[in-house]
Amino acid sequence: MPIKWSEDDKVFHLFNQRISYLIQIVHGKYPAHLYWGRRVKTLNPASILPIRARTFSPATEPGLSLDTLPQEYPAFGNGDFRTPAYQLRAKDGTTMTEFVYDSHEILKGKRPLEGLPSAYIEEEEEAESLVITMLDAKLGIGLNLQYTIYRDLDVITRSASFEHRGSQEAEIHSCMSMSVDFHHSNWDLLHLHGTWARERQIERQPLISGTQSISSARGASSHQHNPFVALLGKNAAEDTGDVYGISLVYSGNFQASVEVDPFEITRLSMGINPFDFIWLLKPGETFQTPETLMVYSSEGLGGMSRTFHQLLRTRMCRGIYRDKIRPILLNNWEATKFNFTEKKLIELADAAAEVGIELFVLDDGWFGKRNNDKSSLGDWSVNKTKLPSGLKGLAEQVQSKGLKFGLWVEPEMVSPDSELYRRHPDWCLHVPGRNRTLSRNQLVLDLCREEVRDWLVATFTKLFENAPISYVKWDMNRNITEAGSTSLPPIRQKETAHRYMLGLYQILETLTTRFPEILFESCSGGGGRFDPGMLYYMPQTWTSDNTDAAERLKIQYGTSLVYPAVTMGAHVSDVPNHQVDRVTPLEMRCDVAMAANFGLELKIDMLGSEERKTVQQKIAFYHQIKQLVCFGDMYRLLSPFDGMDTAWMYVSEDKGQAAVFYYKILAAPNPPFFRLHLRGLDPKRVYRMNNSKQAFTGDELMKLGVAMPLIKTDFFSKVFYLEAANFSGIFL
Ligand code: DGJ
Repeated sequence: MPIKWSEDDKVFHLFNQRISYLIQIVHGKYPAHLYWGRRVKTLNPASILPIRARTFSPATEPGLSLDTLPQEYPAFGNGDFRTPAYQLRAKDGTTMTEFVYDSHEILKGKRPLEGLPSAYIEEEEEAESLVITMLDAKLGIGLNLQYTIYRDLDVITRSASFEHRGSQEAEIHSCMSMSVDFHHSNWDLLHLHGTWARERQIERQPLISGTQSISSARGASSHQHNPFVALLGKNAAEDTGDVYGISLVYSGNFQASVEVDPFEITRLSMGINPFDFIWLLKPGETFQTPETLMVYSSEGLGGMSRTFHQLLRTRMCRGIYRDKIRPILLNNWEATKFNFTEKKLIELADAAAEVGIELFVLDDGWFGKRNNDKSSLGDWSVNKTKLPSGLKGLAEQVQSKGLKFGLWVEPEMVSPDSELYRRHPDWCLHVPGRNRTLSRNQLVLDLCREEVRDWLVATFTKLFENAPISYVKWDMNRNITEAGSTSLPPIRQKETAHRYMLGLYQILETLTTRFPEILFESCSGGGGRFDPGMLYYMPQTWTSDNTDAAERLKIQYGTSLVYPAVTMGAHVSDVPNHQVDRVTPLEMRCDVAMAANFGLELKIDMLGSEERKTVQQKIAFYHQIKQLVCFGDMYRLLSPFDGMDTAWMYVSEDKGQAAVFYYKILAAPNPPFFRLHLRGLDPKRVYRMNNSKQAFTGDELMKLGVAMPLIKTDFFSKVFYLEAANFSGIFL
């Protein structure tokens, strides 16, 4: 999996067994994008690079226009009029730059990014990296283009950094993490959009001339757009065709933009949202962009997802829980909201223990005087009226029932009605003399301030030390407004949103390192910050506040495009559902939640004996398939975005076992016969279904499919388990 440099052709070739990425230094100065895709063995760069000037495309050098050259990190102002990858402003107010190739370094392994989450390696042999250094001699600023190729994953990671070696300060007005110029525009753009309770809905549309983009300016990666886009060849589908997926390892404001130029070159770039961002770069300082994960798949969206899943699961998530099955939890939020007593919690814990739940999670409302969402964020001491035994006492009681104890916190926030706010009214993000806009009655703490970060680390260290806490749900329930920090000088005010993220990452790094035994789950009103950056610190995320089984199919399906099932919290809740008032059978609610990181969030003590039995059986079945769901390869079979049917399956690495999930939302009258075609199995092996005597070859299951029953009921679901077995029947 080396990176090769051809001095004669001035070409870098990053490759593994399956993919190639090619960069040429044109005229010894400009890193041009030659190719990214299936592995190539030979190349004549002259044949593919359109090095020519065109009318109204200025000639940067005789015969060469940057306006028509596919580039790796394009500038604005010296010939290229398309979307730039960056813009700097010099001390004299000008924004012209002339970065040209200076040197490069090829190194074994992969370096971490300082202060930022990034994909990692465990052994040097897993990856190789390239740093192309460009220099603007007049500014004395270096620009490092950082690339890594993994040996066993079809992934290129990219980021960039500006290194100031000059003498006069400059401003960075934009700096993308990556930019790629594809050689044609015959693509569809796919992205994941939504809102609170309706996260990560799939949208696919053909590219049009000009610019199309998705972004967040909310101070979080957001419910509205996930930091992910993909370009799909026109014929690309779930299992076939070329797909290029880009995911940003960042939890704050971002932008992904695609521009199709008149010559049908497609420029795709992604990074920190340049809107409302300016970073002051002083001599001696370096600015590092977040990292992008760039996945190429020749096996459609399914292939792309499996690569992302493996990458995020094994080289983004960290800590002792990375490779462990996570405990089945009961969270009290949907059962009680703020309205609970210690006695009530113990009743829930009792009922939870009875059905085989492993972890009891106490959600919002346990601290200060928080009996609703109007107060107390910041006052992280237990409400003794509600919990007379304190957190420690409660946790011990829960533990005595054989359950672990988990706790909800929302550290980044402060309620104006809190002791903390009364003591430190200036500790929140705000602009002096301006309104402080409330959302869910709360303000956001200013994590740019060192004393705020120190206070948070000290406060939560004490909290986590004072009770036997095995799990923490780290919530964040609003977006950022008045993004200003009184700790920053006027010229640095537009750094606030990014400095907030850096501050948060620092706090998370400290606390997760200090408490390696705690399983952290991130949350932002459900999935408002479901991104690779958060997964670096917390290996699972609460997928959505919408727990309706039918809605969840779309949410979990969309989420699965990038994120593996083990990272997706999925809970069974009561009906009528608290978001959509829909009544779905317990069976289906369990089957949907069991397709991810399984838990429950209902009045478990109120379940009738039949329902309890169902839950017990489902838990027992989940134990049988959990390894597959959490760590198997996912194959999506039927999309909820296409109709009433949804199906997906998980296959073990050795293809010896599989778990298949099928759901139908509304039954159709007198329906046609239907066979579900499986994927990812070994065609030669024989699989036993649900431990029964029924056995089928993988070939049969994939080609002929599984005959499904005629469904006469709405909200139907069926889950089955396949295990390769010895077979003495007849092979055709
Ligand atoms: C939003 C979360 O998504 C919910 O699960 C719950 O924890 C509430 N916050 C509590 O305020």
